[in-house]
Amino acid sequence: MSGLFVSFEGIDGAGKSTHIARLHQHLFSRGLDVCLTREPGGTPLGESIREWVLHQPVDVLTEVLLMFAARAEHLRQVIRPALQAGRVVLCDRFSDATLAYQGAGRGVDRVMLRDLATQVEAGTRPSLTVLFDVPPAVSRARLEGLKAPDRFEREQQDFFERVRQGYLALAQAEPERFVVLDASQPMDAVTAALLRAVEARLG
Ligand SMILES: Nc1ncnc2c1ncn2[C@@H]1O[C@H](COP(=O)(O)OP(=O)(O)O)[C@@H](O)[C@H]1O
Ligand SMILES: [Mg+2]
Repeated sequence: MSGLFVSFEGIDGAGKSTHIARLHQHLFSRGLDVCLTREPGGTPLGESIREWVLHQPVDVLTEVLLMFAARAEHLRQVIRPALQAGRVVLCDRFSDATLAYQGAGRGVDRVMLRDLATQVEAGTRPSLTVLFDVPPAVSRARLEGLKAPDRFEREQQDFFERVRQGYLALAQAEPERFVVLDASQPMDAVTAALLRAVEARLG
């Protein structure tokens, strides 16, 4: 596959959506063909699943299986075709989010999550993952009053601290794939660091 698969991770309010939009603008003006997508979501089935898992109480194992079901279709319908066409895929969350949220956050068995990820990904993984690292108190303050919080955003600070540590452990285990940004910096500093990291990969 000739495209570039980039995923973006971090707790709610870390700044992913804001900076993906800025990066998209930058790459577009550079003439690159960019596919912007998100998880859970990215396909009609994925968006329906997103509505369910963000707003309906479900068993944690149901949550895991729904996330992977959405991911399987997302890979088949969107991500692989885009990569085959040589496009740059910018994906707002991917498998690392399941490992961090359902694994580190909710205590689901990490070995099972990795097995499911391996089966579903079938070799299609991000070659670059940008982790927006921020203390939960900072991201929470950013989100306050923005919109009605979903099921994940209503979680307590200790949940987000576990998720954050889960993400940092993943980054430490795969330093060649991850770039960790200090997302508590002012917006323009985060954007500059992000563009540098992506440009380095684009060559
Ligand atoms: N570095 C930053 N400094 C201050 N505010 C920020 C920063 N990054 C994002 N924000 C603000 O925080 C809020 C959440 O950002 P968002 O990009 O939606 O986060 P995410 O997609 O990771 O949940 C938005 O209001 C955004 O403008
Ligand atoms: Mg977002």
